[in-house]
Amino acid sequence: MEVRIIDLPKILDRRGNLSFLESNKHIPFNIERVHWIYDVPGGQFRGGHAYKQTKEFVIALSGSFDVLIDNGVDKDIYHLNRSYYGLYVPAGTWREVNNFSTNSLALVISSTLYDASDYIRDYDEFLKYKLK
Ligand code: TYD
Repeated sequence: MEVRIIDLPKILDRRGNLSFLESNKHIPFNIERVHWIYDVPGGQFRGGHAYKQTKEFVIALSGSFDVLIDNGVDKDIYHLNRSYYGLYVPAGTWREVNNFSTNSLALVISSTLYDASDYIRDYDEFLKYKLK
């Protein structure tokens, strides 16, 4: 399945809004792990790698940032700035995250437990992997 924005349920309420997601229902994988990125100093970027197996769903819980996507052929930039949608990133996708606003909070939901050997951190290696 392709990289895409997925809208999440949004329960509007005078007391404040609420959104949620469930494993395999609102996102197309089983949730095994969650991490978040915060206190990013201005001008920094994160990511700059691909995964062989891991699928991700990225939400801007607060503030905004850009996710740069590269499938080995096409490149796209997704600007995330609301907590009621996120970006689905399938395995085998090079991705970087940058342009973090002050106090932004990026939530990353993953389909696998952490495994350093699932990372491809070298871009040329990524391109070779995509040609296999
Ligand atoms: P990394 O995935 O390279 O961060 P980013 O893609 O945001 O630049 O992870 C940075 C460090 O954190 C790396 O040493 C591995 C560690 N880490 C874990 O131990 N568990 C995790 O679930 C994640 C995402 C990272």
